[in-house]
Amino acid sequence: MEQSLIMIKPDGVKQGNIGQIIHRFEQHDYQLRAIKMFTMSQELAKQHYAAHKQKDFFDDLVAFITSGPVVPMVWQGTDIIASARDIIGTTDPKAAKLNTIRADFGTDVRHNAIHGSDSVENAKIEIARFFPDM
Ligand code: CMP
Repeated sequence: MEQSLIMIKPDGVKQGNIGQIIHRFEQHDYQLRAIKMFTMSQELAKQHYAAHKQKDFFDDLVAFITSGPVVPMVWQGTDIIASARDIIGTTDPKAAKLNTIRADFGTDVRHNAIHGSDSVENAKIEIARFFPDM
């Protein structure tokens, strides 16, 4: 069974959307396997976004993701990585399809409420990063 690292970002937490975002996943046939809440260190943030290190938005992205608590979760289900991306929506909330999490709870391309693993390989790396005991 496939697993994905889904993380509510600081904007989703600050705006009080944790429950509603979790509910979106509960409505599908997915199982929540792990959840916690903490504020990411600079080191962890830089590791998590290492693929974007050369981008001009990298420093602002790290500042944002460490600006308050995040809620990383491990969700499990059939084809969850691909199908969760349909629930989450595209990176830019303004371009995201109606009724996706980013369209409903995101603000802009940086403050987009939620992260979801983009591949099976990255999901394994991200789950090990946030839940080393799993
Ligand atoms: P996510 O897909 O979870 O992981 C990479 C993040 O980089 C992405 O969400 C956005 O929050 C952020 N991002 C991507 N493109 C931009 C951009 N053009 N400007 C600012 N942030 C961005």
